Amino acid sequence: EAAEKAGFEHFMMKEIHEQPKAVSDTINSLVSDGRINLDNVGLSDEVIKNISQIYIVACGSAYHVGVTAQYVIEDLTRIPVRVEIASEFRYRKPLLDKNGLVIIISQSGETADSLAALREAKNLGVRTLGIVNVVGSSIAREADDVLYTLAGPEIAVATTKAYSAQLIACYALAIHFAKVREQIDDNEYKNLIDELLTLPDKISKVLDDKERIQWFASKFANAKDVFFIGRGIDYSISLEGSLKMKEISYIHSEAYAAGELKHGTISLIEDGTLVIGVLTQQDLYEKTLSNMVEVKSRGAYLMGITNYGNYNIEDTVDFTVYIPKTDKHFTASLAVVPLQLMGYYISVARGLDVDKPRNLAKSVTVE
Ligand code: G6P
Repeated sequence: EAAEKAGFEHFMMKEIHEQPKAVSDTINSLVSDGRINLDNVGLSDEVIKNISQIYIVACGSAYHVGVTAQYVIEDLTRIPVRVEIASEFRYRKPLLDKNGLVIIISQSGETADSLAALREAKNLGVRTLGIVNVVGSSIAREADDVLYTLAGPEIAVATTKAYSAQLIACYALAIHFAKVREQIDDNEYKNLIDELLTLPDKISKVLDDKERIQWFASKFANAKDVFFIGRGIDYSISLEGSLKMKEISYIHSEAYAAGELKHGTISLIEDGTLVIGVLTQQDLYEKTLSNMVEVKSRGAYLMGITNYGNYNIEDTVDFTVYIPKTDKHFTASLAVVPLQLMGYYISVARGLDVDKPRNLAKSVTVE
């Protein structure tokens, strides 16, 4: 097992470091000669032009990818997108449009609720697409079309590289659909693909900051609660950051849409409560920053994740992690990394079983 960990103390840390490769392998399988090529996936231009509505269905972190994808796909393609937890979707007798596309996202391809949701969609006669990591898994076999992520085998229960590869799959679909449906011009198309290709190096750059994050995480190893806030895509990143934190460190954490704080959560803020703000969406930056000021005045200790250049954040926030600039649709790929590292380092500092957290399974094949 030590050999398999390639010098890392845990599989999770190894897999965090494999993200530039997982991302670049997945990009390379979907981009050739500067164009998105979905020939292996199987959605023709005619099918793409006729999609009336997209439903994304998944569990756990794959669901969080869906929440990010909802913002990205809607913004680029202008196709309405709804995202739903598989265990909810399967029992609510969903009303699906005949020209809709149901996208099931699953690392293992075996999650019982996701598989049941796929079968429900097929029964209703709606086209299905699986975004799956494990080749030949049930969801890959049963979906009408399948887009494989190339994250390789993932061992740690808490997903990192598979999540990152799933994001790439969704970005590629969004860019391709937007181009086919003439929502973006050649120039925008090229810029998005060029930017996509820079993500692996930018993820490596974020990883270079890990020791600062380790130092900061060690100060909060005994935290009682942690809150994550953000707006738009930053809210979707907060959901994943919060899940990483609670699943491996056993510290209670919650993600809140920043504007929703004042409707309840703010009463939970005490002196010294850690609040982590995600502020990568430039048009929402001031709004979220003002929410950070609000919680600070109630005693919160603030960590912020934002783009290089937003240095005035330091007037408000106690500890800042900067991420390289990228297209606004792709920031989840960078901002999630410090959050994965926070969960990891806090779990290690508490002496917990990082790779096999209590009560959790890598793949949930029972309901
Ligand atoms: C389990 C894992 C999560 C994962 C979820 C969905 O809960 O612990 O990391 O996100 O299942 O799994 P899937 O294989 O469908 O992506």
